[in-house]
Amino acid sequence: MKIGFLACPATMPSTGGERRGDAFEHDLQVAALRPALEARGGSLTEIDWHSPLEDFAAFDLVLLGTVWDYQDHADAFVAKIDAIEKAGTIVCNSPNLVRWNIDKAYLKDLAAQGAQTIPTKWAANAGRADIVSALKFFGSDKVVVKLRVGGGAIGQEIFSKADLPAADWRMGAPALIQPFLPTIQQEGELSFVFIDGAFSHAIQKTPASGEYRIQSLYGGKETPITPSDADIACALTIMQALPGDPPLYARIDMLRADAEGADGSLLLMEAEVIEPFLYPMQGPDLGDRIAEAIVARLR
Ligand SMILES: Nc1ncnc2c1ncn2[C@@H]1O[C@H](COP(=O)(O)OP(=O)(O)O)[C@@H](O)[C@H]1O
Ligand SMILES: [Mg+2]
Repeated sequence: MKIGFLACPATMPSTGGERRGDAFEHDLQVAALRPALEARGGSLTEIDWHSPLEDFAAFDLVLLGTVWDYQDHADAFVAKIDAIEKAGTIVCNSPNLVRWNIDKAYLKDLAAQGAQTIPTKWAANAGRADIVSALKFFGSDKVVVKLRVGGGAIGQEIFSKADLPAADWRMGAPALIQPFLPTIQQEGELSFVFIDGAFSHAIQKTPASGEYRIQSLYGGKETPITPSDADIACALTIMQALPGDPPLYARIDMLRADAEGADGSLLLMEAEVIEPFLYPMQGPDLGDRIAEAIVARLR
């Protein structure tokens, strides 16, 4: 049972180059997985996804791991994992699911299936007029604009009535515009990790003071939580709305509509099935759960 853990130059250990500030998350994930696989007679090898195709032939299954630069090479990335799969190695999660998840337009599919998503407007190349009309449409003081293909809050912008973009500003790529939900700076974002469709653990991610992005690169903090049954059920509904069979791993990121109590329901921020960090520190069984799911797939 040879398992490949796909990484990128900025997360691979010991490539000589500079690693990303959050490469410790790569190490935590590998540290959770490797012993669990070894205990079952398997092995885990970290490999840069940019490596030549023949280098992947040795693996029975590859995990998408920490391919945190795929957005910059989206077509090449999808072509590579397609080719790995064609060559006979199982790819988790599947290239088909990746293709669907790479563009945040998937939020429309999930909303069509009844998922409660954050209200969203879509703009091919957002400009000042789109921001003004979105502020009005949402009846909101502040909006977030994010790239349809992107991650880690890269390229994301915040505008308000008092701080509009310049007249000639353009997002430069297809984007989505959402009302800024202040609960991000209170309760924060809740992440629900599912392995093979079953709930594993949940965490609460809060931003640093004055920040709204909860990513560790921006000083975000992570706390394990025991969510209510209602909140788990809400995340599970979204997990079950994903296309195809339950993926090996999924992280459902949610945000409360209004933490003050007016609306306690959770809204979907993102359904992450490509390369989410799975918070092994807050889910001590994670390695075993994933290893069991892998064993089942290779049986
Ligand atoms: N509508 C929103 N209201 C408040 N904060 C938001 C909103 N959308 C995104 N954010 C913040 O920006 C971060 C990144 O946005 P997200 O949709 O998760 O994109 P990605 O992680 O793919 O870059 C979120 O984790 C959250 O901190
Ligand atoms: Mg996110």
